[in-house]
Amino acid sequence: LARYQGVLWVSSEDGRIKGYDWQVRDDASFQSFLSSHGWTIAEGNENSSSSVVVIESNDERNEFFFPGFIDTHIHAPQFPNIGLFGSSGLLDWLNEYTFPVEASFGAKSDPKNQDTNPKDTPPEALRVYDEVVARTLAHGTTCASYFATIHVPATNALAALCHSHGQRAFIGRVCMDNPDQCPSYYIDQSAEEGFNATKSTIDYIQTLDPDGTLINPIITPRFAPSCSNESLEGLGKLAASYSPPLHIQTHICETLDEIALVHQLFPEAASYADVYDKAHLLTNRTILAHGVHLTKDERTLVRERGSKVAHCPSSNSALGSGLAPVRVMLDEGLTVGLGTDVSGGYSPSILEVARQAALVSRLLAYSAEYQEMTGNTTSDGSEKLTVDDALYLATRGGAAVVDMPDDIGGFDQGMIWDAQLIELGAVQNNTVSPLDAAPVRSLAGRTLPMSGPVGNVDLFGNETWQEQIQKWMWSGDDRNVKNVWVQGKLVHTRD
Ligand code: GUN
Ligand code: FE
Repeated sequence: LARYQGVLWVSSEDGRIKGYDWQVRDDASFQSFLSSHGWTIAEGNENSSSSVVVIESNDERNEFFFPGFIDTHIHAPQFPNIGLFGSSGLLDWLNEYTFPVEASFGAKSDPKNQDTNPKDTPPEALRVYDEVVARTLAHGTTCASYFATIHVPATNALAALCHSHGQRAFIGRVCMDNPDQCPSYYIDQSAEEGFNATKSTIDYIQTLDPDGTLINPIITPRFAPSCSNESLEGLGKLAASYSPPLHIQTHICETLDEIALVHQLFPEAASYADVYDKAHLLTNRTILAHGVHLTKDERTLVRERGSKVAHCPSSNSALGSGLAPVRVMLDEGLTVGLGTDVSGGYSPSILEVARQAALVSRLLAYSAEYQEMTGNTTSDGSEKLTVDDALYLATRGGAAVVDMPDDIGGFDQGMIWDAQLIELGAVQNNTVSPLDAAPVRSLAGRTLPMSGPVGNVDLFGNETWQEQIQKWMWSGDDRNVKNVWVQGKLVHTRD
């Protein structure tokens, strides 16, 4: 309910949007709206079909509801490494920073990875996962597609924490069995060990949430270099053996060095995408992270298979991987969403990624690769993502990437109420002139008359809705996220 701007109602049974009434504009029309449905106002969060829970947004117009963000690519165990890159590119960074932190999520007593009990996860790892789920929710991420590690107990623990916090999530146990490319301390001893361990996590997740309402397993070969052909093919078969087929996620064409390595390791494949295609890993439920340097033929193959792209611009810039030509992908009919790719990406915020997507799109015209691809040496501006484009990718785009386009990412009737209440700062009407207050402003403990109370976004009162949204995308953060709901249930409050 956005008070005085209409009513939107959500079923307490299935968390879906039942309808709207935009005629409700004041208390009297609200009361008659309620009585026309035979509803009463519930105290607290009651689950009664004949009562409603009132959620108001502030009538001073500095609050609005927005669909929850969808993070289509994030590595939960890499959170402790946020901000640590050195000046290395992807392959060195994996060896130096990433594999060591992920390896620490294993239970020391389980060298063969046969334990499935989430309680056997090291306590520090549990604390990290708990923080990841709480933190991403606080940034408005209502749905995330997680890479965990190779460890079964810790992967199950991540699933249990998503479930208990109430975050919608896809949780993938990472598969990596190529001894030439994986460190000896962090590897599946065989493709088969990888399948069995993966199956244990699938069983655990499907037992915890049999209908897959909130959490679902996702088949996760790390990327082609980490995996034997046997493993890739077996994982393709494993995904297809479920009904409906399981989701799949992996990385593709992130950096030029990685692509050269794939050509060397898979000489029989026509391309990087072809490696996955031959293993039946390119399905309409496959999420391919990055795709920065996909060739035209690869993009065509990805589109024909109905596979989706997770665009991760913060990570691509931080690791120096390149500039993904998102407008080209969209124009060619690919489905694209956004991913934080923590900790290749330095922020758990999809709002930050939306802004990085807009920034990267503005630099594309200066890239020789892009000029060659399009034949344009100057920009006509069409490659730039607008605020609306970037926020679309963060919500409806992401919903299509996780294959839930009719359920999440928007507020259409029948969709699920996965939502965030955004509050922007409003500049106070100060009676004291800022000039007169100047001496105070130069001291510690000062009051800043020109600064709003909530985050970095200041409203001066004459902004249109479009302008408020633009200000939010360019300078908002988690301080603006007041409440978050998933499946109609309140799962985070800021204060
Ligand atoms: N490619 C293979 N593994 C990874 C990873 O953990 N992060 C990123 N960004 N790329 C990868
Ligand atoms: Fe990644």
